Amino acid sequence: MPITKALPKELLPIIDVPVLSHIVNECVNSGLNEILIIISPHKQVIKDYFAKDEKLYDELMTAGKTDLAACVKDIYSRADIRFVTQEQPLGSAHAISLAKPFTGNEPFCLALGDDLTVADVPVAKQLIGAYEQTGSTIIGVQNCPTDDIVKYGVADVASSNGRLHLLKGMVEKPPIDALPSRLACYGRYVLADIYRYIEQIGKGKNGEYQLTDALMMMCNEAKVYAYDFEGVRYDMGDKFGSLKAAIELSLKRKDFGDELKKYLIELAKSL
Ligand code: G1P
Repeated sequence: MPITKALPKELLPIIDVPVLSHIVNECVNSGLNEILIIISPHKQVIKDYFAKDEKLYDELMTAGKTDLAACVKDIYSRADIRFVTQEQPLGSAHAISLAKPFTGNEPFCLALGDDLTVADVPVAKQLIGAYEQTGSTIIGVQNCPTDDIVKYGVADVASSNGRLHLLKGMVEKPPIDALPSRLACYGRYVLADIYRYIEQIGKGKNGEYQLTDALMMMCNEAKVYAYDFEGVRYDMGDKFGSLKAAIELSLKRKDFGDELKKYLIELAKSL
């Protein structure tokens, strides 16, 4: 707030690209080109962003603005993007259950819209690699050294092998004096056979159907792993987190990254 009064947080821009577009790119760059975006009724504008707009494309081409035309086409042509609306806010597990007609019983990757990741190998691709190795559900985690860890699902580890941790459970938003580990769950998953657990859970925290409850049930009956992914993750639900993402992603830009670096160095001298 206040900008999210009018604009869904998933469309907040990092300079000129919305957060959700970065997440879609992560998926596409991980080899995923069938994407379902689950949105609430008041976030329908997200559909407009990803909609095919050949009229605009043609207008830009006719005006000789080929770079802009390519930019527009890039939004909707890199993946088959579909939408489903979660009519009521009944929780993450309920939202995921709406994807069943789309995924069937195949394993799939879940990316939460609050979490932006930047990595040499896209995080979704790292998790798919871990799935291919184990054949089991994978939860993307990273070490969280600060008290912020109480905002996340936290892994309860049975045994570890390098970056891969076999889980005996997960705790959603544990109190700081009862952390099962320092491995926080950062909004990336490969989910296999999840619907059967979602169908069994009742309402959990906030009176909602929570993914963590389904994952906890899965931990008791099947193998579930946490994968400590490489790269940086930004909390886009946090104002300072989104500022850091904007600065760090802008520094990587070809069009003005070097100029920004010089500017920041000069600015830092005056602080
Ligand atoms: C959700 C999940 C939590 C996870 C977090 C990552 O929490 O329930 O396990 O760690 O996303 O961003 P929420 O952000 O909905 O509170």
